[in-house]
Amino acid sequence: MSAFVPAATVARLSSTRTSSRTALSSKSSSLVASRPLGLRVGVALRTPTPSPRAAISMIATGEPLEDWLQRAEKDLGKCTRGIFAACKEVAYKIRTASCDKMSCFNDFGDEQLAIDVLADKVIFDNLTESGVVAVASSEELPIEKPITPGGKFAVAFDPLDGSSIIDTNFSVGTIFGVWKGDRFVGQDGHGVVCAGLTIYGPRTTITLAIDGVDGAHEFLLIDDFSAKHGSWIHTAAFSTVNEGKLFAPGNMRAAQDNPGYAKLLEHYYSNKYQLRYTGGMVPDVNQILVKGKGVFCNPASPSAKAKLRVLYEVLPIGYVIEKAGGKSSNGAGSVLDIKIKSCEDRSQVCYGSADEVARFEELVGVTYAVEEATV
Ligand code: F6P
Repeated sequence: MSAFVPAATVARLSSTRTSSRTALSSKSSSLVASRPLGLRVGVALRTPTPSPRAAISMIATGEPLEDWLQRAEKDLGKCTRGIFAACKEVAYKIRTASCDKMSCFNDFGDEQLAIDVLADKVIFDNLTESGVVAVASSEELPIEKPITPGGKFAVAFDPLDGSSIIDTNFSVGTIFGVWKGDRFVGQDGHGVVCAGLTIYGPRTTITLAIDGVDGAHEFLLIDDFSAKHGSWIHTAAFSTVNEGKLFAPGNMRAAQDNPGYAKLLEHYYSNKYQLRYTGGMVPDVNQILVKGKGVFCNPASPSAKAKLRVLYEVLPIGYVIEKAGGKSSNGAGSVLDIKIKSCEDRSQVCYGSADEVARFEELVGVTYAVEEATV
């Protein structure tokens, strides 16, 4: 292992946060937790207006993933560990990829595969190794693929969202959602038991929400710059999404023939909102949790159809956002109400604070496409 010590990260997080993020703090004596590499830190609640329930659970502990996951049901913990292990490998493959204008390849590894194909394989392999996954489905392979007979969970994932911006070295991500059972079709977002967003940026983090634990939780990869090693530690908890003028407007070409979207954009401009949009859904949505405010939307129009996939993107992210105190909508109501009719269903979407999502429903609504199945 390299001698990477996360103490500076811990100290920085504790000194500046005022949003919904609760970070490690050396000032607090509320709890002292054992850290990897022999560190011991105090942790504090930093939620501006915590609910009594949030006050109990919204603590960044600095625990290794293994310890933190004791809070979850045992087999769900196994499944989650498998996904984290996969993302660790994917992070390495991305860091060592070489790109041309068409795609990125992992030239330095043993497999000469396009990076999104490789990410897909790595995640399927790790899900198989977990031994608890009945079926899995990915944006690369949009079928219900049997994995382990008698397995308990159905796992859907987008192995590498934002593959079109990976050559620019913008942040990209993995999205995953876990349901109980061995089918996706017929279920909805209320059946999700665990979901997360992995951000491959300057730091590799996963924002995880899981049944049995309130809020959404950030884990940081303490990397030793190899494919298999390094560990995840719990660095923040997200419990509220407040009102604030930060917007991430996806599919902007839809504003040309969706007058509601044009009005919504006009609202953002005339009220001097801050634009924060990279074109990578994972970092663009995750910023809402980290900053504790804002809105992300990707509306549809007759000429710019709904693009985001219900199974791999819309529902898992909806689960994470709502667990973290935010709202989601497809224009009609929470995305968690959307029934999965096929692995390839698509929907328009909005995530953010309560007022922002209500504004999306009022101005954009459901005039153009709530859900679309593509065959
Ligand atoms: O998954 C599709 C995606 O790559 C998202 O990550 C991103 O938010 C969106 O497309 C960008 O679309 P547009 O360029 O139309 O805003």
